[in-house]
Amino acid sequence: MRDKLLKLKKEIIDQLEVLKQKTANSNNLELLRTLRVKYMGRKGELTQFLRQLKDLSQEAKQEIGKLANDIKVEVGEAFTQVQEEFLDDESGVNTDVSLPGEVSKIGHLHPLTLVQRELEELFKSLGFHVLEGPELESDYYNFEALNISKDHPARDMQDTFYVNVPGQKNSEQNLVMRTHTSPVQIRAMQKYGAPLRAIVPGRVFRNEAIDASHEHTFYQLEGLMIGENISIANLVAVMKEILKGIFKEDVNVRVRPGFFPFVEPGIELDIECRLCGGKGCPVCKQSGWLELLPAGMVHPKVLEAGGIDSKKYSGFAFGLGLTRLVMMKYNIGDIRLFNSGDLRFLEQF
Ligand code: PHE
Repeated sequence: MRDKLLKLKKEIIDQLEVLKQKTANSNNLELLRTLRVKYMGRKGELTQFLRQLKDLSQEAKQEIGKLANDIKVEVGEAFTQVQEEFLDDESGVNTDVSLPGEVSKIGHLHPLTLVQRELEELFKSLGFHVLEGPELESDYYNFEALNISKDHPARDMQDTFYVNVPGQKNSEQNLVMRTHTSPVQIRAMQKYGAPLRAIVPGRVFRNEAIDASHEHTFYQLEGLMIGENISIANLVAVMKEILKGIFKEDVNVRVRPGFFPFVEPGIELDIECRLCGGKGCPVCKQSGWLELLPAGMVHPKVLEAGGIDSKKYSGFAFGLGLTRLVMMKYNIGDIRLFNSGDLRFLEQF
């Protein structure tokens, strides 16, 4: 009897030991419960065994009784211990709440994104859609459809990164990293037709010699408004409204002629220097004006390339230098900071 009792105890402790090696999960807690019922439940093996004790002689009872009781207590404690370990693991009761916590650093938006979103809201309030286009663009959309043919000298204004597609010889399909957001003008016209009001914020690429004001990767925000009887006056009105939203006050603008093959006439819209108020300073090179916005009336050939009847509709387009605008707004002197990932710069916004 004594041997049987010891053997049963060993059996139970061994099984608990195996269970202890496992991780706490609802499955293992369930296993533990089953084990407890198997041995210690009302019909459990150990319980049955203990019940037989009452049939023993007084002498035997005294001898085995104590051992049996000790084993019952010991096994009970072993069960409780494993269960507690499991529960602790599960509920994290063992966590020392006085230890310093792990601070998760909260990031914030890049200055470009901040201004881009602000502009999107402003333009949306004037009924413009916000569109996107591919950064890897076909030669056709980036140049050809915008009235910049293969041998046109205007191609030199935007030296870019040509991308070779292995095995493809057809030069019509040549791919370029888009040099401006203007190709999306064509894509938008083809997709939505006229009338149309859209802006296209996005990343553009040029093969530039990099310095404080030139980068190979920067951001533009294209604008396009097409309808009946749209004129430069509409463009100036829209831009004044937007600039007022950004700088929180009325901004003086002036219009000069400018050349871009995809507009006719083409203009440059300048704003009065924010630093000197138009008196002249090093930032505006003593002129009192800052170049902000190349723009113009969409060239009839471009409208036609977009599938729009140039006899019925006219429109304006502009190519806001988003990176440039952010530099003006926050007085940032070096364009290279934008892509630097330098936290000393980024954390100021
Ligand atoms: N796409 C031109 C550029 O990047 C800017 C522009 C856009 C000019 C729209 C006129 C109209 O230089």
